[in-house]
This record gives sequence, C-alpha cells and structure tokens, in this order.
Amino acid sequence: MAKDPVRVLVTGAAGQIGYALVPMIARGVMLGADQPVILHMLDIPPAAEALNGVKMELVDAAFPLLKGVVATTDAVEACTGVNIAVMVGGFPRKEGMERKDVMSKNVSIYKSQASALEKHAAANCKVLVVANPANTNALILKEFAPSIPEKNITCLTRLDHNRALGQISERLNVQVSDVKNVIIWGNHSSTQYPDVTHATVSTPAGEKPVRELIADDQWLNTEFIATVQQRGAAIIKARKLSSALSAASSACDHIRDWVLGTPEGTWVSMGVYSDGSYNVPSGLIYSFPVTCKNGEWCIVQGLSIDEFSRNKLDLTAKELSEEKDLAYSCLS
Ligand code: NAD
Ligand code: LMR
Repeated sequence: MAKDPVRVLVTGAAGQIGYALVPMIARGVMLGADQPVILHMLDIPPAAEALNGVKMELVDAAFPLLKGVVATTDAVEACTGVNIAVMVGGFPRKEGMERKDVMSKNVSIYKSQASALEKHAAANCKVLVVANPANTNALILKEFAPSIPEKNITCLTRLDHNRALGQISERLNVQVSDVKNVIIWGNHSSTQYPDVTHATVSTPAGEKPVRELIADDQWLNTEFIATVQQRGAAIIKARKLSSALSAASSACDHIRDWVLGTPEGTWVSMGVYSDGSYNVPSGLIYSFPVTCKNGEWCIVQGLSIDEFSRNKLDLTAKELSEEKDLAYSCLS
C-alpha cells in the first residue's frame, strides 16, 4: 500500500540552496524512493515571483513522488501541518565575512519563525536549521519554541562531516564511501574541530584507522583541519556565492539518516542540544557524533578525547557561548 505523503517545509526556497534542495526532496533523495512528499516552500515577498517560478519548474519536472506544492510568503501557511522543516531562509555571508557576521539579520528571523512552527507544525516535527549562524539560529528557534521537544531541533554540520570524508578520500585515493566515523565537534564555523581520531577506512585487508593509513600527524593536525574549517570560505571565494549543491545534498543526508537510521557501526555529525556529554556545556547546540534509530538521534558515548582534542572541543564551545550572548544582544 502506498505511504501517506510527508509534508516537508523548505524556507528560503527561492534561494540557491532551495533551488538545489527541492528537486532532491521531490526525487526521494531525502526520505526514500517510496515516500511521497508534499513540499511547502516559504520565502519573503520580494522573492515571491522567483518562488512561483520554482513551483512552476517542480510541476514541469513531473516528479512521481511529489503529491503537492505549497508556495507562499505566509509563515503560518508554510508551517501548517509540516512533518519536517528545513530552515534555509536567511542571508548568506559574502567574501571576507565570518558566519557570525550575519547574526543580527538571521537570528531575528529564527525567533519569529519559531512561534509559527510551534503553533502550526505537525506534532513531532523534525527541524533542521541550515541558515547561518546555524547552531545559534537553531538555539534561538529552540528557545522561542519551548513546546517543540529539544530533541527535534538540530542544525547542519553534515556538510562539514562530508567535507572531512572527502578530504581523507582524496588524500588516500580511496572511495569516499569507504571512509567513515570522522567527527565534527562544535560550531559550524572556523572553530569547528574535524576529528579523525576514531575514523576508519574499509580496505581489502579489513578496516584500518585513518591515523594508521595517514601516518602524517602534522598534516592531520594542521592542514586537514584548516581545510575543512575554511572550506565554506574557499567555495565563496571561488564561486562568489556560498556552497549550495553540497549544502542541499548534506541536508538530505542529515534528514535521511535521522528518519531512516544510520548504518550499523557508523556515526554521523549533527548539531544537537548538548546534554553535557564530553563536558560540553549544556544549553548550546553543538555538533556531536550521533547514531540514529527509529527517528531518534543519540550521542555516541565513551570516545577517548586526548589533550589536543580537548582544547579544540573547548575552544569551539567557548565561541558558541559567546555567539549565544551576541544573539541575545541582537534580539534585545
Ligand atoms: P540565498 O540568499 O541564495 O537564499 C536565501 C533565501 O532566503 C532567499 O531567497 C531569501 O529571500 C530567503 N529569505 C530571507 N529571509 C527570509 C525569511 N524571513 N523567511 C523565508 N525566507 C527568507 O542563500 P543560500 O545560498 O541559499 O544560503 C542560505 C543560508 O544557508 C545562508 O544563511 C547560508 O550562509 C547558509 N548555509 C549554511 C550551510 C551549512 O552547512 N550550515 C551551508 C551553506 C549555506
Ligand atoms: C558553508 O559552510 O559553505 C556555508 O556555511 C556557507 C559559509 O558561509 O561558509
């Protein structure tokens, strides 16, 4: 029997990530090839005509799984009944800006959209915040939507996770699908800590630690980390626009694994509400290694953290605490 459609909200749907993301959702990349979807697309009035153009293209593409499209500039209409909300709407940073520079514009959007979601989304709606500063926007959304369970509000660090997998696969000249269990700790910013301490590569001789195959600690502890931390800026420099196809694809990966589960023995990185694991202060949305099962994520526990890593986990937590204070000062 055919499944009931799932309603997926994409805010900022007329923008670049939106344009890459909505066809992926309509093709089943996010929720599976047997899962019908109804797309809800929100943008602001100056983008209404472009949004309508995206809707026309969705109709023209005749996606078999797409059972309806709501394209609107009204947040209440957009949020009504949605099961999944991918929050992309906001302003991207330009060359030379840090992600927190877009703070004042974007956190106020997340405060106001929090209440629309809280009041009108379906019960148990899963929320993924993509717009920057992603962790802090997600935190603001959580704080201004107190009736949405904190477990349901996450932010995107899967792009950084995928970037780390990509860098390791390029360095070792192996398939990216053979690399797993990298970790992105902390903020989706240049203080994030891409950690390969527990990462492995599947080889004909079995699973090998990345740190055994790349016996160059200097590269792993400096250049690799900086490349992943700065990849967003490198894309902006090259494209004069921020990443879009990789962001959209990673957003699909994030939701797919959250809803359908992570493969046995594999974890992924998600920005989630800290419960104090690994001595990360609670009250922050912080990227951790997680596994997912039955629609719930769970922080991987018991990983060893050496002194090098400890300092990096703390540094990015400190930045997130400062961003939180800055966000509140922008809202007051
Ligand atoms: P974009 O400017 O192309 O599109 C953003 C869209 O949001 C625009 O259509 C704009 O009209 C719309 N918008 C603005 N205010 C809105 C509001 N209040 N409600 C609904 N829509 C609104 O930008 P983009 O390149 O698609 O990037 C979107 C966001 O995602 C940016 O903040 C960017 O920095 C961020 N981003 C995050 C990641 C990540 O990994 N977390 C990766 C790439 C980009
Ligand atoms: C990215 O990581 O590509 C995005 O967050 C865009 C940016 O501002 O870096």
